[in-house]
Parts: sequence; C-alpha cells; structure tokens
Amino acid sequence: MLEDQKIEYDQDNSIGWGLRSQMKSGIRIAVIGGGSSYTPELISGLLDVDDLAIEQVTLVDIPEGRDKMEIIRAFCQRLIDHSNKKFILQATCNRHQALADADFVLSQFRVGGLNARARDESIPLKYGVIGQETVGAGGFASALRTIPVALELARELEELNPAAWLINFTNPSGMITEALLRYQGIRTIGLCNVPITIERTIAEALHVSPDVISIDFLGLNHLSFARHVYVQGKDITPLVLEFLKNMSQEAVKNSVANIPKETWAPYLLDAVPMIPNPYLQYYWNTDVMLRKQLADIENGKGTRAIQVMAIEAELFKQYQNPQQVTLPELLMQRGGAYYSTVAVMLMESLALNKRREMVVNVKNDQALDVLPADSVVEVPAVIDGRGARAITMEPVPLEVKGLIQQVKAYEQLTIEAAVEGHRGKALAALLTNPLVPSSEIAHKILDDILRENAAYLPQFAS
Ligand code: G6P
Repeated sequence: MLEDQKIEYDQDNSIGWGLRSQMKSGIRIAVIGGGSSYTPELISGLLDVDDLAIEQVTLVDIPEGRDKMEIIRAFCQRLIDHSNKKFILQATCNRHQALADADFVLSQFRVGGLNARARDESIPLKYGVIGQETVGAGGFASALRTIPVALELARELEELNPAAWLINFTNPSGMITEALLRYQGIRTIGLCNVPITIERTIAEALHVSPDVISIDFLGLNHLSFARHVYVQGKDITPLVLEFLKNMSQEAVKNSVANIPKETWAPYLLDAVPMIPNPYLQYYWNTDVMLRKQLADIENGKGTRAIQVMAIEAELFKQYQNPQQVTLPELLMQRGGAYYSTVAVMLMESLALNKRREMVVNVKNDQALDVLPADSVVEVPAVIDGRGARAITMEPVPLEVKGLIQQVKAYEQLTIEAAVEGHRGKALAALLTNPLVPSSEIAHKILDDILRENAAYLPQFAS
C-alpha cells in the first residue's frame, strides 16, 4: 500500500517523483488543474475502472495553487489507500515533466480561478444581461483568458510528447476544443458531462439501464438537443417528451446542479419536439433565468461562483479531515456529475481500442449539415484507438438551425479575437451572441471585461 506520507516539494516544485517506477507498466495520466475540488471525483472514477491498467496519475497546478493541490493529493491518496486498486499518485508544479511523461493529459484548469469566474458572471448582470460561466458574455470573457493558455499548453505538449491525447474539460469546452484543433496539431477530444447526465436522467426516469439507451444529440457544447431517444433501438422520443411536458416544478431533478431548476413548457416542446440541454434555459427562457440571477444577488446568495466558493470552502474542510475516505455528499451540489465517467470511458476506448459511441466535442466533418466541416460540434462519435469520428446526423431542423449557426459564428469570432487580441472581433463576437441585446451594451460589457481582466489579457494590451 502506498503511504499517505507528507512529501516535501523539491526545488523544481515537484513531489512524489521518487515513488515512480522506472518501468512503464500502464497508462500515465497528467491532470492539468489537478488542485480542482473536482479532482477527487476523477480519482474515484479511475479507481472504479477494471480493464484500464493505470500506472500513475500526476496532478499538475500552478505554484499559487500548490496548497490546494496538496490537500487534494493527500485526500486522493486516502481514496486510493482505501480501494482495492492501486496506482501512483503524485503532484507537481512542473508541467513540462508531467506532459513529457503522460499518455493522457486531462485539461481542467480555470484561468484566474473562481474570482475571475465571479467577475465573468457579475459584469453582464450590471447591464441586465445573463451572467453565466460558459454561455453569453461570461463565457466570452472566460474564453478570452483561457484560449491563449490552452494553446500554450498544447504547443508544449506537441513539442514534448506529440503522441499523447489531450482530453479537454476546460471551459468553455467547445470553444477551447475548436481553438486547439484549429491552431495546434495535437490529438484533442473535448468532453462535457451534460450529455451523459441527460442520458442517465432519462434512463432513471424510464427505469431502464443506461446501456440500452442511445440518443441522437446534435448541436454545440451547452447548446445541444436530444433529437431521438432509443431504447434497444426503438424510438421512444414521444414518450420522453410527454414525460417532460407533464413534469411539475417539484419533480424536476436537478440533473445539472449548477443551473436553476426549470421545467419546459408543453407548447415549447410541441413546437420544437426535442429534449433541450438544460443550458437552453438561458437562450429560450432568458427573462426567467435573468430574474433568478438578479434575485440571487438581491437576497445575498451571489452569483453561482460565489455560491461555489462557499461549497468549496466546506469541501476542502472535509477533504482535510483524515477520517474522510470517501467522496463527500456535498460534491453533489456541484455541476460536474458523471465527469469522471465520461473521462474513463473515453480513455478506455482510446487506450484499448475499444469501439464505442460517445457524445464528444469533435470536428464536424459531415455530422451537422449546417456548419463548416472544420468547426467543433457536440455529437455522437465513434471512438476507438484511432480517435473520435463524428457520426453524420439527419439534417438539422430549421427550428434550431439559426441558433446553432449564430452561436457557432459567435464562438469563431471569440476564438479569433482571443488569439489575435483583436478588439473589433471581440465586439463583433459579443454582438453576435444571442444573449447580448445591443451594440451599446456589448461595448460597455467589453470595456469592463478587458479592464477587469487586464492581467490575463496581454494580447489586448496595445
Ligand atoms: C456542468 C458543466 C460544466 C461546468 C459545471 C459548473 O457540469 O457541464 O461545464 O463547469 O457544470 O458547475 P459548478 O458547480 O462549478 O457551478
């Protein structure tokens, strides 16, 4: 059994390297943003998998995040010690070393931490505009900060270890994946936990195993639709839609804990007969969501980032308790349900050439007829040792075509603005976003974003 010993960081900011065996005997994973409070869920998922021989997991974070990472490492080591499965766990601030050594690099970092997310959420609200982590002007600000850092990570990986897979959870996941595929040559697949959460929620409601369900998803990350739901090959979409139409507010399961609970109006589901991703609430029920966000500010709860800070403070206390050897219940209050499940499924298929269908963020090719072939979409793809290939879907229905194309244009303008530090493209991106109501407001929001994020946006400095 590996001991949960307190290992001092050495001069190059690493710990645990002495534990590493010289002979490679299995999969090596590097987790960028390893100090995240979500990491224990990932480790727990890796401990549950049988056929993937994991040799080591290396948590990587920036020096400012070292204390948090140490708490996470120590807790995760306890999870390992109390499980039947063993692998080496180490933590380092030396990204180079970790990248050079990995088969899989899991990216889950947040540039500027929760403080930056809190600013992303509160700036738009000042102007009566939705303030959210990944969609609208909040997601835009996050993308400007994150894209250059993600590209730098990919450049380093390409130089050190071009055979590795980069699995991207870093938000806004679709845009980051598209930037990586557009500007870098590394092997990248983007992931999100929402499609599998929708699938598991439907399976639970129908009292069937998720293994017999398959869903035709179409769209973009946090802007997708389950067009057909099949149980053992039989299309049961009308049944699921009926179920949703009759669902009372109380019965809504908080399938994605970070979004306020809301039902879908029957008239909406009649008009657009697909199961919308919960994030569609921001696009189709903007007024209701905005009222909820403003009410949270009024009643002192604060934006989601502020709420998450409070949850995290308590989570970290529990992680530090030596008696805590299982995942705390409190993790359920975070939005990341099933994120380790999709990560493990994907790594299994890639490493073992185990062919399966999964919803991922991947190059469109011919999957969605209304988007360019080189743009990134969130659709079912065939995964095996060669990577992910998007499955061609039926033509995108007119009812959602415009929204998907508009948001894709916004995403592409944002990516170009982030890479080039181009203020005009940044403003055009915000203007194109359906959640931003006018050019004057877009201009004001952009001014605030650039000013409040100046330390993270050197590309806009001139
Ligand atoms: C969902 C989304 C993630 C997002 C998370 C936020 O899982 O798919 O992209 O980061 O929720 O959850 P939080 O608890 O941090 O608000």
